[in-house]
Amino acid sequence: MAQAFDVVVIGSGPAGYIGAIRAAQLGLRTACVEEWANPAGEPALGGTCLNVGCIPSKALLESSEQYEHTLTGLAGHGIAVSGVTVDIGKMIARKEAIVSKMTKGIETLFRKNKITWLKGHGRFVGRGAGGWQVEVSGGAAEVVEAKAVVVATGSKARHLPGVPVDQKVVCDNVGALAFTEVPARLGVIGAGVIGLELGSVWRRLGSKVVVLEALPGFLAAADESVAKEAWRIFTKEQGLDIRLGVTIGKVEVTKKGVVVAYQQDGKDERLECDRLIVSVGRIPNTDGLGADAVGLKVDARGFIEVDDQCRTNLANVFAIGDVVRGPMLAHKGEEEGVMVAELIAGQKAHVNLETIPWVIYTSPEIAWVGRTEQQLKADDVPYRVGQFPFSINGRALGHGDTHGFVKMLAHSHTDEILGVHIINTHASELIAEAVVAMEFRAASEDIARIVHAHPSLSEVTHEAALAVSKRALNM
Ligand code: NAI
Repeated sequence: MAQAFDVVVIGSGPAGYIGAIRAAQLGLRTACVEEWANPAGEPALGGTCLNVGCIPSKALLESSEQYEHTLTGLAGHGIAVSGVTVDIGKMIARKEAIVSKMTKGIETLFRKNKITWLKGHGRFVGRGAGGWQVEVSGGAAEVVEAKAVVVATGSKARHLPGVPVDQKVVCDNVGALAFTEVPARLGVIGAGVIGLELGSVWRRLGSKVVVLEALPGFLAAADESVAKEAWRIFTKEQGLDIRLGVTIGKVEVTKKGVVVAYQQDGKDERLECDRLIVSVGRIPNTDGLGADAVGLKVDARGFIEVDDQCRTNLANVFAIGDVVRGPMLAHKGEEEGVMVAELIAGQKAHVNLETIPWVIYTSPEIAWVGRTEQQLKADDVPYRVGQFPFSINGRALGHGDTHGFVKMLAHSHTDEILGVHIINTHASELIAEAVVAMEFRAASEDIARIVHAHPSLSEVTHEAALAVSKRALNM
């Protein structure tokens, strides 16, 4: 007799494991199918985010920042250091220990919530009296039945035709987080989130980094003022070599490394490097899901079609996270996981895609929520802008890092906050206030009238809100 569950979640990334926990909290008999194996060959929960994405990259970003800060940031504090060295092996081992702690933590949460982990590859095979039938292939293949299925299979790196990724010389996010030495010359294709974050890690550790980007503009998704400031800092101050408007040609792996032929401004160019990272976007994981077996609708780009509440075309089948429309961000997937678990349990639930914060973990970090100034212009929305720099904030001066600003956009008539854009070392933390404000549909005046601790970086958000009505106090 097949095992039967109220909910089977396929995939244990942030969307899937959070959805499974919420379903179990609501009293639903829940299982989660996961096939991931870590480099030691052990089954692991957590998906891309915990194993080869957000968590390990942030560990390396921090290590590389500490190294660079020790080399260049301490002198200004009157602290002299010499003989600074870096042990990449230890740095990578620290990252792996963090990954292991986090992924084992999900195992503990699964045990605590009595969630069954079905180890293997999950695939729809049909529908029986007990609900949807999902085959779990792996060690001991079995078919389980579920009243509801949540597909949370995530995404994988998009590769370029003719550019085979071997995870040694030519890498995507997986290989680029596991280099065993600092490449002297690192090439990166794609100046998006991953390219900038990983390019920064290895630049700080000593690589000469060249980033090749197809688009003529830089960070097109960000607010133009932020993109301009980021460009200035990354290229002029930090020496990241970003070449825009390129067309990638032949990529050849040689004995010494890799040669990338490309065109820029109609001219043929070549980039020789020791390692190459390909970070040109991600594609949804729907291969091998058995979508055809049950008639699950998948669009031409491989995304599962869903409505606002992540319902697919099949009754009691939901899809969440990177495998559906919307930004490919872990926290967006997590909230969708909570939403679908609550819907399955018969509750009312929704996710507001308009207030999903974006963060790029470069140094300084870039974070935003809501619309950019260029979007407001394009949509003909009347708005006012308030902007305030960190360079005159006491706390930022104390930190010794005064990069960037907070820019707030509010509706000209109603004063409702429409977007907040931050570039600063602590932008990922500062953006939370803006998300709360927008979720409560606050006006810029609300933030302007709220007490902010002094001295703190959050005062810059306060001043930006005051600046919307031209009454910043410290400028
Ligand atoms: P991305 O979409 O952020 O950037 C890809 C870049 O590659 C774009 O600028 C694009 O114009 C460029 N590109 C595409 N084809 C190209 C070509 N043939 N030659 C040169 N350039 C080309 O994608 P990325 O960085 O791979 O990240 C994938 C997703 O992962 C992101 O959409 C993001 O949602 C998620 N992610 C989020 C992070 C965060 O929240 N901090 C961190 C890492 C990834």
